[in-house]
Amino acid sequence: MYQIIDGNKIASEIKKEIAVEVAKLRESGKKIPHLAAILVGNNGSSETYVANKVKDCEEVGFNSTLIRFRPEIQEKEILEKINELNHDADIDGFIVQLPLPVQISENKVIEAIDPLKDADGFHPVNLGKMMIGLPCYMPATPFGIVELIRRYGIQTSGRNCVVIGRSNIVGRPVSILLSQKGIDANVCVIHSRTINFQEIIYNADIIIAAIGVPSFVKAEMVKEGAVVIDVGTTRVAAPEKKSGWKLAGDVDFENVAPKCSFITPVPGGVGPMTRVSLLRNTLMAAKGKII
Ligand code: GUN
Repeated sequence: MYQIIDGNKIASEIKKEIAVEVAKLRESGKKIPHLAAILVGNNGSSETYVANKVKDCEEVGFNSTLIRFRPEIQEKEILEKINELNHDADIDGFIVQLPLPVQISENKVIEAIDPLKDADGFHPVNLGKMMIGLPCYMPATPFGIVELIRRYGIQTSGRNCVVIGRSNIVGRPVSILLSQKGIDANVCVIHSRTINFQEIIYNADIIIAAIGVPSFVKAEMVKEGAVVIDVGTTRVAAPEKKSGWKLAGDVDFENVAPKCSFITPVPGGVGPMTRVSLLRNTLMAAKGKII
């Protein structure tokens, strides 16, 4: 029988730990962590993510600020706001919710963020520091995935791990974290050009699915006893729901789960852990732990 990796449960444990630390900061008259978020336009998923991030801040006692821009905003305006936040001593960390409208270069935006305030851990400086194991802002989703694996006591040392997808915000950074000393997995990253991907996935003890294709991972690709982490969060039509949509993972959960030792659900698996990583990053920054 498989075990569900409950992201909501672990995230709420970590939030309690963070709330205790915030209470200590408050009692000793220290600075309360403050996270800001920039949201451009009104993409449904981005609205939900950002609303949840603000709610998380309230829950642990952080201050939070939401900055909204209309979808027609020019790159210059957003870069000016980033510069302002970089120099605002009260803001410990901030994020710019992606994706951005086409007229704005995401890379330019990410590179404009002060690496010491880059709560998402997307800046090349933070990715570089993570790569060589220095203290830094960790990329939120990869850190959340590793924390789930660690807190469920899942063995990684010497085990075969396949990462499906090579995005800058999930696939690539998680592959680096999993191969680091102390985690010690044998990591293989596969992508849209991989030949024999079924065979490679079948060889894996741990599967991280991060390609954004609903139900891409099928039961016949998964080895008996594998650990499956599903990062997919594609919105698909669901007429039975009031909203008219639901979140679909990259794994055909119903058929894959019976073959697994551990599996994350969607929603309620990796998603809540991404948000908690953001809180962890902001707390570290407020405590001066990121240098
Ligand atoms: N869009 C999808 N996931 C994320 C995330 O973790 N951070 C930001 N800034 N944008 C996203």
